[in-house]
Amino acid sequence: MNGERRTHSQAAYSASAAVYNALVGYYAFDHWRENLERLERRYHLDTSCVVDAACGTGLAAMYLAGRGAEVFASDLSPHMLKEAAGACKGGRVRFQRQDMRYLYPPRRVTMLNCATDAMNHLMREADIRRALSSFHAALIPGGYAVFDMNTSWQLREGGDNAPWDFQACGRRMRWLSCWDEGRGISTLTLVFRDGRGDGEDIVETHRERAYDTGWVVEELARSGFSHTDVLDAAGLGKVSDRTRRLLFVARA
Ligand SMILES: C[S@@+](CC[C@H](N)C(=O)[O-])C[C@H]1O[C@@H](n2cnc3c(N)ncnc32)[C@H](O)[C@@H]1O
Repeated sequence: MNGERRTHSQAAYSASAAVYNALVGYYAFDHWRENLERLERRYHLDTSCVVDAACGTGLAAMYLAGRGAEVFASDLSPHMLKEAAGACKGGRVRFQRQDMRYLYPPRRVTMLNCATDAMNHLMREADIRRALSSFHAALIPGGYAVFDMNTSWQLREGGDNAPWDFQACGRRMRWLSCWDEGRGISTLTLVFRDGRGDGEDIVETHRERAYDTGWVVEELARSGFSHTDVLDAAGLGKVSDRTRRLLFVARA
């Protein structure tokens, strides 16, 4: 980064909320929908009443609501929620600002969804434990939690330390990602050049931590889930040491 430029740090998913769909959201949603439709057939998922935890810009929530589901969608970022609420016509989804570690849906649901690396954003094992307990508490007995996690392979491969300068949605941006092997944490620094038109760059830092798969499965059991399958999100087959994203399907 050029040390002479003035910078202003902002929370993750604040400035980036406006460009999220174009850069990540639409692409991720297509994969998510394809997987969901296959999982529905394989597990006979009941998607009539859903919590979408860490819903981001709400694409999954709106899709489910469009199919007739009752959807309680929540996220920590007010900026992501604003994008979601702005796109959601007719109030079919109830959006709320909630931490996925402490969900409080109005009633228990048949499915809990938490997509596109949101779980990797939790930095401590204790946070994962809390989130899994919160997921379990949100579900009716026999309901399913479906969530994904990036593997260390994926986060390591993405962290090449080379800055990437590009333009998107009329914004000049620089992305820089790096991987800390010891801590299992990847850090993506997003710089919005002249972010507010006053010459200052806006900087957001996004961190993702990789967790041991076996440990997550054990924690799911400790949280009360009766059975968990772990699939490769690319194709829903067996997990290998080159799996980039894991899909957890856990029965409450
Ligand atoms: C990569 S985005 C995924 C958004 C959406 N699920 C999707 O599939 O496009 C990660 C989201 O997790 C949210 N997030 C991170 N930590 C959170 C927490 N503790 N509770 C709720 N949301 C959180 C962020 O605000 C962001 O919207």
